[in-house]
Amino acid sequence: MGEGNGTAWAGALSPAARYAETGGASLTWENLTAVLPGSGGRPTKKLLQGLYGYAVPGRIVAIMGPSGSGKSTLLDSLSGRLARNVLQTGKVLLNGKKRRLDFGAVVSVKFIIEA
Ligand SMILES: Nc1ncnc2c1ncn2[C@@H]1O[C@H](COP(=O)(O)OP(=O)(O)O)[C@@H](O)[C@H]1O
Ligand SMILES: [Mg+2]
Repeated sequence: MGEGNGTAWAGALSPAARYAETGGASLTWENLTAVLPGSGGRPTKKLLQGLYGYAVPGRIVAIMGPSGSGKSTLLDSLSGRLARNVLQTGKVLLNGKKRRLDFGAVVSVKFIIEA
C-alpha cells in the first residue's frame, strides 16, 4: 500500500503522517493476566490469561471474541482502568517503556475503538 502518492489520502494527511505529527504511540502487552480474587466463598476467577499483543500507529487492531470473553477487561487493563479488586500482572509497554500502573494513570489510547 503506497502512501503520500496523492491518491488514497488526496487532500488530507495519511493516518501514518498524522500519527507522526502528533508523536504516535505504540502499545505492547506481554503475558497480561488479570485475576479476580475469590471472596465470600466464591472461587478465584481468571479474567485474562497470558495475553500478548501490540498496536502501532496507522494500523487498526480488532479485538474479537464472544460476549463475556474479556474484550472490555483487556481494554480496561491496557488503559489502567481495571476495578481495584482485580489483580493485574504482566507488562504494558508504551513506546517500549513500562507504563506506570500506579496513581490510576490513564493512557490516552485513541486508536482503539470498542464496538
Ligand atoms: N471487576 C470485575 N468483577 C467481576 N467480574 C468481572 C470484573 N471485570 C470483568 N469481569 C468478568 O469478566 C468477564 C469478561 O467480561 P468483559 O470483559 O466485559 O467481556 P466482553 O467485553 O468480551 O463481553 C465477565 O464474566 C465479567 O463478568
Ligand atoms: Mg465488552
